Amino acid sequence: MILQAKRIVLGLSGGVACYKAAELCRLLVKAGSQVQVVMSEGAQAFITPTTMQALSGQPVITSQWDSSHPNAMPHINATRGADLIVVAPCSANFLSRLAAGACDEVLSLMCVARPSETVALLLAPAMNREMWSHPATQRNLRQVQADGAQLLGVGTGEQACGETGDGRMLEAAEIFEEIQAALSPKLLAGKRVCITAGPTFEAIDPVRGITNKSSGKMGFAMAKAARMAGAQVDLIAGPVSLATPRGVQRTDVTSARQMADAVAACVDSADIFIATAAVADWRPAVEAEDKIKKDGSGRTPALAFTENPDILASVAASPRAKSAQLYCVGFAAESGSLIEHGRAKRMRKGVPMLVGNIGPSTFGRDDNALVVFTDAGELEMPRSSKDALASELIAMIAENTRTVG
Ligand code: C5P
Repeated sequence: MILQAKRIVLGLSGGVACYKAAELCRLLVKAGSQVQVVMSEGAQAFITPTTMQALSGQPVITSQWDSSHPNAMPHINATRGADLIVVAPCSANFLSRLAAGACDEVLSLMCVARPSETVALLLAPAMNREMWSHPATQRNLRQVQADGAQLLGVGTGEQACGETGDGRMLEAAEIFEEIQAALSPKLLAGKRVCITAGPTFEAIDPVRGITNKSSGKMGFAMAKAARMAGAQVDLIAGPVSLATPRGVQRTDVTSARQMADAVAACVDSADIFIATAAVADWRPAVEAEDKIKKDGSGRTPALAFTENPDILASVAASPRAKSAQLYCVGFAAESGSLIEHGRAKRMRKGVPMLVGNIGPSTFGRDDNALVVFTDAGELEMPRSSKDALASELIAMIAENTRTVG
């Protein structure tokens, strides 16, 4: 949503990672942004302006002498009114030119000519590992940051040249997430947020256990939205197969007790605790050391249960939460009578905000419909993507902590 109707300038300098810029352009256009592509001469050796024009739906700027601009100033036209410039790939050569403030070709000219107060400059470096670690490159990286550019970091691993190390350009989806973060209002700047997500798994024996259908998607969306809002985020995840949102510190756990320990380790320094995890209420009283075997008699094993710690309720009962230094948010997945159960659960857990949903109609999906319960009453949030709902929830949480804190 943040990218809807935004004006993004996508600059490409020369590097094999240009193929990823094509995908990035597609993602930006799909998210509703208007993309103006600018390509250096080197970039055109790797990918054609025709490809980028087809993907962006706009002619590509390839030269400062482009006569199709009536005022003959493509570098000014592209940057006035733009929301952000992202250079991906940013080659070692381009970096050196930017560090020097070179204005003899259109891409660096445009970066230097941008109104730096209003147009952020994001750089996604892409180069061979030796080029990346070279002192000149490292010096240039420091210089462009000092001059106001934001570095997006690099990936590590196998490189196109066959070598392995640092310097690979981030994936298109990662750069896309960084662009969203750069454009998001920093509603939680300076705040620390601890979030639980996903199901827990309670072992019966070494190969079996009890779990639930939570996918973790809502919790991961909350972590991503909190980070985009400028918070430092600790995400404590049960067993899920989801990618960690960029810039989020993740701890993986299996059982409810492990989740409780991980929360205890981070919640004391947090300002906000968000419990989205579907924590198992009970665990088998005994975890068998060996696999429980069928003995052919037709008898089924008897399972006895014991209650798990209620993580949210105990955090909400802590002195910091009671004195409003820690703002607690609970989630409730119900199978019906949401309003009634939601109100009761908020009271029982002792939290200022509880977010309710109908479990069976959200587990595993990318969308959800919510009801938010607070002292002010109930607020219905109609079905939308979990990402969109998460950013609305984070805005509400920020507003509530601002007025409380
Ligand atoms: O009681 P119920 O499981 O429905 O409550 C759901 C809320 O409480 C969620 O926010 C969930 O993360 C949290 N919870 C918890 N520890 C438990 C059970 C639930 O933190 N043992």
